[in-house]
Amino acid sequence: MAAVSIRRIGIMTGGGDCPGLNAVIRAVVLKAHARGWEVIGIEDATNGLIDLDYKAPRGNRPLGPDDVDDILTRGGTILGTSNRSDPFEYVVKKDGEQEVIDVSDRVVANYHALGLDALVSVGGDGSMRIAHRLADKGMRIVGVPKTIDQDLGATDYTFGFNTAVQTATDAIDRLRDTAISHDRVMILEVMGRNAGWIALCAALAGGAHVCLIPEIPYRLEPVVGTIRRRRESGHPFSIIVIAEGARPADGQQSFEGPRKLGAMPKLFGAGYRLGEALQPHLVLDLRVTVLGHIQRGGSPTQFDRILGTRFGTAAVDAIAEGKFGHMVALRTPDIITIPIEQACANERRVDPTGQLVQAARDVGICFGQG
Ligand code: F6P
Repeated sequence: MAAVSIRRIGIMTGGGDCPGLNAVIRAVVLKAHARGWEVIGIEDATNGLIDLDYKAPRGNRPLGPDDVDDILTRGGTILGTSNRSDPFEYVVKKDGEQEVIDVSDRVVANYHALGLDALVSVGGDGSMRIAHRLADKGMRIVGVPKTIDQDLGATDYTFGFNTAVQTATDAIDRLRDTAISHDRVMILEVMGRNAGWIALCAALAGGAHVCLIPEIPYRLEPVVGTIRRRRESGHPFSIIVIAEGARPADGQQSFEGPRKLGAMPKLFGAGYRLGEALQPHLVLDLRVTVLGHIQRGGSPTQFDRILGTRFGTAAVDAIAEGKFGHMVALRTPDIITIPIEQACANERRVDPTGQLVQAARDVGICFGQG
């Protein structure tokens, strides 16, 4: 593709935050400035493009090297984010009632009003779908994938996942100490939406005894059997890691109340549901810990800092080369670009027959089957 003339680009972060977003922002700003481009940071995902005065004067703002000098090691995103700002299905209040309207034309008009020649959109599958539709309306967008869930099939890894797994592993280590002291069964519920990657990797790294993931619906009896056998062989404690999206073989995923307008359905309660079902079958005491948003914060691991930096610099290259409507992705050892629509096509799910699950089974981890 032909090189294009660029003077000013925008960058925004959308969807749930994750460690490594600031590494991307820093890399984009440093590389763009080295090329002589201006960078405008867009506040709270598309909110800053739906309304140019959104949160002014701290809203949309120019970003230079000084603004990103100390952000590499920080979790969160200095630009703010939102997972309820889809301009194609934007929720507004009218006469006290909520209604959904399409404000995408306003986003396109404001993109031009800011004098942007291109936009870097950092986000998960939802943000990439929005980016694809905005690209269809003529905006020159390059996508950068992120999510702690590791559920985007188009890239080997997303940044954020490695840090989240480390956080969950640290939690297991701590739970093990107190489980041993009290002869208890500890359930740790982790995030991941419909993918079991965080649960599986943390269970492996933390030496858990049971791991329950969405891809392998579980039965109670094998879990009870694992805990009983451990107790009878002189280990009167067990660690269970359960993904928030896990479900019993004869039941559904558990969700929090009715779905809010413009929001994803919220998974909630998998760990407590398992605890209530398990306790009557156990002589040991049981406790449940829901790790929740602790997995989303914190300083990124070196892996996530490096991947975020590589994605950020690659996004600037993609803009310079005119690869609009594309997303950067890791195909180890390279960073490639692929059309954003392809990027949204495949979810990455744990393969129940894959080597990772097999390795876990080989070291005795029970998946609630058998
Ligand atoms: O997609 C990232 C994620 O953290 C999921 O693992 C989780 O289900 C969801 O976001 C939580 O979203 P929220 O921050 O809206 O509660």
